[in-house]
This record gives sequence, structure tokens and C-alpha cells, in this order.
Amino acid sequence: MKTVTRHSLLVRLNHWLVAVSGILLLFSGFGQMPMYNRYYVTAIPGFGWSGDFALTLYLHYAASVVFVAAVIFHMIYHAMMGEFGVMPKKGDIKEGIQGLKAMIGLAEEPRHDKFQAKQRLAYLAIGATSLVLILTGLVKSYKNLGNIVLAPSFLEAMALIHTAAAVFFMILFVIHVGIMVMKNHRPLITSMVTGKVSTDYARHHHPAWKVEG
Ligand code: HEM
Ligand code: HEM
Repeated sequence: MKTVTRHSLLVRLNHWLVAVSGILLLFSGFGQMPMYNRYYVTAIPGFGWSGDFALTLYLHYAASVVFVAAVIFHMIYHAMMGEFGVMPKKGDIKEGIQGLKAMIGLAEEPRHDKFQAKQRLAYLAIGATSLVLILTGLVKSYKNLGNIVLAPSFLEAMALIHTAAAVFFMILFVIHVGIMVMKNHRPLITSMVTGKVSTDYARHHHPAWKVEG
């Protein structure tokens, strides 16, 4: 089978670091809200520790170090390489709607580049949400350092935004994984592991993508 390169090794490694740390942040973050005991998550064999707030907080901190580092690396690396193919462009909302209509046979599929308009909009959503989580999370961590007094109303706003963004992040995560495991998108999962996708897939799904290698 003839293949083309879709993701470099660095991009793949970075994606899986973001994915694993993101999943751990979701799990440990919601563990800070006393619910795992209430909803019997702690009763699942091997998950007894999830009711321990100190432990889930340490896990949240550890995962946040990886997440923040990977997100900063992602931004600096692609800015330096001049790679902005996943950033939304003018006309993406219109094209995204056309793409959604095409899924149910009501319009013709737009001629997609490396990323579809829908993917670029989804990227903006998950990227912006991640930045909000990082900024509000850093403020919450700073407050936890010890003798630090911040205005209670400011802290309350930060906590509220952090929690709301976490819920939004969870929804986007479920949609992202839900779409990737759909039969016609599964080759992309392989591409996030091996870096390669078949030439046929690339031509069919991303006809306007000028592939290399
Ligand atoms: C918190 C967890 C996750 C986050 C924040 C996340 C985020 C992203 C982002 C921002 C992209 C596009 C940019 C890039 O190429 O790096 C992407 C691509 C991708 N993600 Fe994730 N991801 C997560 C988890 C997962 C999981 C668990 C899977 C496996 C089912 C997955 C499968 C993929 C695939 C296959 C692509 C490539 C799409 C393409 O080639 O067009 N992601 N992800
Ligand atoms: C995917 C990213 C993240 C998700 C889904 C997430 C989720 C959550 C949730 C649900 C909570 C509990 C509710 C709350 O107190 O607001 C929480 C608390 C917290 N998060 Fe995050 N978070 C993320 C990233 C971060 C990052 C990057 C940092 C630090 C840089 C951070 C630091 C904190 C801190 C300090 C707390 C409060 C712990 C406490 O004092 O009780 N979070 N997070």
C-alpha cells in the first residue's frame, strides 16, 4: 500500500503526551470535587485511591507539568516551523456547515486541505479551552503555595472558570475520540501512531492537501 506522511514523530509524541496528561487531568480534576466516593468509583477494583484528595491533587499537579510543557512546545515548535495548517481561516464556518451537511448527503463535500474546516474549528475550541485551563490552573496552584492572599472574588472567578472549562474540555474530548473511532476516520488513529496514511485515503478525504514524502 502506498502511503504518505501525515504526522512527524515529534508531533505524534507531543499529541500522545497531551492526550495522556489531559485524560489524567480530567480524572484527577474531577476527583477534587468530592464525587468518586458518592458515585462508587472508589468501589471499582484498583480505583480505591481515587477518593484520596491529596493523591488526586498530586496526580493533577504531575499531569499538569506534562500538559503545560507539551502545549508550550506545540505552540513554539509550529510557530518556528511556520506550520499553521490547523489554524482556522476565513470561510471555515461556512465550509464547516457545508461539511456537516455533506455527512447527511445534503451538500457536496468541500475539497479539504490537510485538515478539514471542521477540524480547524475544533482545534481552536480545544486549544483555547486548554489555554484557559492552564492560566486559571496556574493561579489556583499559586494560591496553594502557602501564605498567599488573593482577593476571594478573583479566586472564586478563577475556580468557576477552571471548572466550567474542564466540563467543556471533557465534552470536546468525548466528541474528538468519538469521531476518531468512527470507521471512516480510523486510518487517522493509525496515522497518529505510525505517522502514515494511505495515498488513497489522503486523495479521497483531503484532495487539496499537498502531501510530502
Ligand atoms: C485530552 C486528550 C486529547 C487532546 C487534548 C487531543 C488533541 C488533539 C489535537 C489538538 C489534534 C490536532 C492537532 C495535532 O495534529 O496535534 C489532535 C489530533 C488527533 N487526535 Fe487527539 N487529542 C486527545 C486525545 C486523543 C485520543 C484518546 C485519540 C485516540 C482515539 C486521539 C486521536 C487523534 C487523531 C487520530 C488525530 C489526528 C487527526 C488527523 O490526522 O487529522 N486524540 N488531537
Ligand atoms: C485538561 C486540563 C485540566 C482539567 C480538565 C482540569 C480540571 C480540574 C477540575 C475539574 C478541578 C476541580 C474543580 C476546581 O477546583 O475548579 C481542578 C482543580 C484544580 N486544578 Fe485543574 N484542570 C486542568 C488543568 C490544570 C492545570 C494545567 C493546572 C495547573 C497549572 C491545574 C491546577 C489545578 C488546581 C491547583 C486545582 C485546585 C486544587 C485544589 O486546591 O483543590 N489544572 N482542575
